[in-house]
Amino acid sequence: MQNAQTALDKVVILGTGGTIAGTAADAGDTVGYTAGQLGVAQLVTAVPALAGQPLEAEQVAQLDSKDMRFDVWLQLATRLAHHLARPEVVGVVVTHGTDTLEETAFFLQQVLAPAKPVVLVAAMRPATALLADGPQNLLDAVLLARTPGCQGVLALLGGTVHAGGEVRKTHTYRLDAFGSGDAGPLAYVEADRVRALRPWPAPRAGAVERLAGLQSAPQPWPWVEIVTSAAGADGRAVQALQAAGVAGLVVAGTGNGTLHEALEAALRSAEVAGVQVLRCSRCLAGSVIEVPGALPAAGALTPQQARVALLLRLLHVD
Ligand code: SIN
Repeated sequence: MQNAQTALDKVVILGTGGTIAGTAADAGDTVGYTAGQLGVAQLVTAVPALAGQPLEAEQVAQLDSKDMRFDVWLQLATRLAHHLARPEVVGVVVTHGTDTLEETAFFLQQVLAPAKPVVLVAAMRPATALLADGPQNLLDAVLLARTPGCQGVLALLGGTVHAGGEVRKTHTYRLDAFGSGDAGPLAYVEADRVRALRPWPAPRAGAVERLAGLQSAPQPWPWVEIVTSAAGADGRAVQALQAAGVAGLVVAGTGNGTLHEALEAALRSAEVAGVQVLRCSRCLAGSVIEVPGALPAAGALTPQQARVALLLRLLHVD
């Protein structure tokens, strides 16, 4: 059983949509549903164990996370900063779609790096499914947000907790659909207990300044794309993107971030012309180990994470 909470143990739940808030016409349909239909207050009401707990719910957005936008990220970061600064709030839960959760989590960890927990929670089945996973995940997320000493941006699905800076979606339909590459999970929620495997993400000073930098950044935010090295690759995509005004390019290389020679030549020309280039690997796990003379490498970041990192660098808030 959870300990009795006081008004000083408030958890704020911010809703952004996703399958956790999705509905289907048929309870047996776990694919042909519409994400982002139920309000966050309805999601909370659907979990009887949350009744009477000191919670607040706020709808920040209502979308399928494949359609995530930078203005929603900015709004979400702004609301998170507001609630995290309230002394009575011990942590914040964000309901989110699974499809781009890894990008939102990485973005929020880079910008906020909070000293309180921010738990991104999702579901692989819609709220109307015969065996919906959202209610248990939401209950687990609130427990995690109230766990003493817990901090940083975290992602929770199927009882497994990942660091926001490391999480990535690894499966198209299984309930435990996230991984963290070589880093592995951060913790497990086992019944009503949190078992941490390693330290929570460390807080970083300067969140107010980074957020202010984002809020005052010119619109639209810099254009950053991902290109992939593969058999038969050439430089045409890079040249077309450069001609169209791209500001940054992440290249998902083979193995240790190696690049097809034709693609590398185009990337080096783009870099000379002022496009920022960041090299990572299309492998599912492992770091790109620096090699002298190679294009700049993104370490253990996935292409999606590296794209956010490059975006923040171009916005001068990294
Ligand atoms: C979404 O990402 O919003 C839809 C898919 C999901 O949440 O699993």
